Amino acid sequence: MAYLKVVPTSDGSPTLFSDKFNAHYHSINGAITESNHVFINAGFKKVAENRSFVRVLEVGLGTCLNSALTAVAAKGWVVKVEYFGIEMFPPEKPLLKNMISNFNTESELKEQWLKVAQAPFGESTIINNKFSIHKIEDDFCKWIPSINFDVVYFDAFAPDDQPEMWSIENFKKLFLCLNPNGILVTYSAKGVVKQNLRDAGFKVERLSGPPGKRHMIRAIKVT
Ligand SMILES: C[S@@+](CC[C@H](N)C(=O)[O-])C[C@H]1O[C@@H](n2cnc3c(N)ncnc32)[C@H](O)[C@@H]1O
Repeated sequence: MAYLKVVPTSDGSPTLFSDKFNAHYHSINGAITESNHVFINAGFKKVAENRSFVRVLEVGLGTCLNSALTAVAAKGWVVKVEYFGIEMFPPEKPLLKNMISNFNTESELKEQWLKVAQAPFGESTIINNKFSIHKIEDDFCKWIPSINFDVVYFDAFAPDDQPEMWSIENFKKLFLCLNPNGILVTYSAKGVVKQNLRDAGFKVERLSGPPGKRHMIRAIKVT
């Protein structure tokens, strides 16, 4: 995949830039900082409180950074995590291996990130005693969920770059496969995103965003 290149971000963590979508996979103000803020702190930790089991769905698995950070976070909690990630254009494994191996970070994150990045598609892989991942290679817009989730990490490219991903129809599909009081978190707080989430049935909260972004969204399936 010659159209992907590794680029550094402000907190020292790497991300990818896609020529095909003309977009970065994470914020250039800090890939790990953004992922921790939006997906781990506002999403995973919110649902993992007082639970023994959490099922996560990520839309846009990309570099597997969000899944690696969740695998590390799960180790510090009582909770067991089943993680599902859907991706239509998986980056090649050697590219990811190279990117992660050259990242100078604490060994735990590096080890978990390498493991999730190398896990195969189409089957469940145990990453640690709290965390397994099931990667799905499919077009999210056509995919039909067959199980329920507690939290959705919605990490598609921005609504201006890929508006079809942020449709009412897609958000309804996610609303239906979330458990009662399940949540969806995303980095975009655009008006059309909030409106489409509301039209799909969610209660929408605007939270403060990661560096470089004023706001993010947490949408709740209130029952
Ligand atoms: C912002 S990046 C995701 C970054 C990722 N969460 C990470 O931690 O690296 C968006 C991802 O959505 C994927 N994508 C684009 N269109 C898609 C589709 N129709 N279905 C599933 N994935 C798609 C892209 O290939 C890309 O990996």
